[in-house]
Amino acid sequence: MSMLVTGGAGFIGANFVHHRRASHPQERLVVLDALTYAGNLQSIAPLLDAGEVHFVRGDICDDALLARLFAEHDFAQVVHFAAESHVDRSIVAPDAFVRTNVNGTLSLLKAALAAHRKTGTLQRFHHVSTDEVYGSLGLSDPAFQETTAYAPRSPYAASKAASDHLVNAYGHTYGLLITISNCSNNYGPFHFPEKLIPLMIVNLLQGKPLPVYGQGANIRDWLHVSDHCTAISAILDRGRAGETYNVGGNSEVANLELVHQLCDAFDARFLGDPDLRRRFPASPASQGRPSRELVTFVQDRPGHDYRYAVDTSKISAELGVRPLVALADGLASTIGWYLDNEAWWRSVMTGEYQNWVNSHYGAAS
Ligand code: NAD
Ligand code: TYD
Repeated sequence: MSMLVTGGAGFIGANFVHHRRASHPQERLVVLDALTYAGNLQSIAPLLDAGEVHFVRGDICDDALLARLFAEHDFAQVVHFAAESHVDRSIVAPDAFVRTNVNGTLSLLKAALAAHRKTGTLQRFHHVSTDEVYGSLGLSDPAFQETTAYAPRSPYAASKAASDHLVNAYGHTYGLLITISNCSNNYGPFHFPEKLIPLMIVNLLQGKPLPVYGQGANIRDWLHVSDHCTAISAILDRGRAGETYNVGGNSEVANLELVHQLCDAFDARFLGDPDLRRRFPASPASQGRPSRELVTFVQDRPGHDYRYAVDTSKISAELGVRPLVALADGLASTIGWYLDNEAWWRSVMTGEYQNWVNSHYGAAS
C-alpha cells in the first residue's frame, strides 16, 4: 500500500510522516514537497537515510510530475498537507497562497481522479485544513462545528476555504473518496520559527523582543501536533468518506497569557541548569532576570481574527479521538525540543539550510 504525503517536509507533515511510519510500518510513504522556506528535509532525515520513506522534490502545481508519480506508485491514499500556511505572509503576498493552496490542490485532485479512474486503487484523498475557514468568534460564541458556515477573513483562510470547497466538490461530483479535517493551531517539534510559539522560544533563547500583536487579547485553541497526527491517522483508517472532521485541543488561551506561560517555563528551567545559562547567555533567564521583560507590544495584524474555538464532539464520538497532551506539558516538551535541536532552528533561520537544498536540488524556480 502506497501513500502520497504532500508537504511532508513541513511542520505537521514531517511529524505525520514520523507518526505514520511508526504506527503503520508496512505502508510505503512517498513525500512530495517543493522545499520552500518552510520545508526542511532535516525534519525527516533519519527516515530518508534509512530508506524508510521515498522523497521527491516537486511542486503540487506540476501536472506532469503528478501524473508520473500516480502512474509510478498507484497510491491507495493521499494526505495533502502542502500549503502556504502563514497568515502574516498571506497579508503581504497573497498570490503564492492562491497558487499553491487553490491551484495546487486542484492539480492534485485532477491527478488523483485520473489515476483512480484508470486503476481504481485510490481509497482516500485526505485534505488537511484549518479552523480559520470558519472566521472569527466573539468571546461567548459557540465553538466551530462541522456545519458552521464558512467565513474566511484572511487571504490564507480564504485560500484554504477555496481548497476545501474543491475537495468537497470532487467528492460530490466525481465520487472521489475524500475526507477533510479542519484543525486549530498546532505546536510542537519542527515548527518553523515564524509562528507564535516557536518564534517566542527562539527569541527567548537569544534575548530578543517577544512581539505580541495588539494587546495580546486574541484567543487561539492550541493542539499538540502529535494529537493532530493521531486524529489524521484515525480519519484515514476509520473515518467515513465524504465527511469533514473538526480537530481541536480544547485548550483556549489568550496570546499574552500563552507568552507569559512560555516565559515562566523558561525562568524555571534556566534557574536549575547552569549549562543552559552558559549556552544561551543573552537570554534574560541566564542573567537571573524575568523573561517577561522581553514582551513587546507591536502593531496589530490587519483584520486579526479575535478567537478560534473548535467543537470536537464529532471526531470524539465517531472515532474516539481526543487530545492527550495538556498544554503545560506540551509547551515544556516543545521548549525541550528547541533546546535539544539548536542546529535545526539556527540552520532554518539563517538560510544555511536553503543553501544546502539549492546545492543538492537546484534553486527553486
Ligand atoms: P508548513 O508551512 O510548515 O509546511 C508546508 C509544507 O508544504 C512545506 O514543507 C513546504 O515546502 C510545502 N509546500 C509549499 N508549497 C508547496 C508546493 N507548491 N508544492 C509542494 N510542496 C509545497 O505548514 P504546516 O504548518 O505544516 O501546515 C500543513 C497543513 O496543515 C497546511 O495545509 C495548513 O493549512 C494546515 N494547518 C496548519 C495548522 C498549523 O497550526 N500549523 C493548523 C491547521 C491546519
Ligand atoms: P500564528 O502562530 O501566526 O497563527 P495564526 O495566525 O494562524 O493563528 O499566530 C497565533 C496568534 O499569535 C495570532 O493571534 C497572532 C499572534 N502573534 C503575535 O502576537 N505575535 C507574533 O509574532 C506572531 C507570529 C503571532
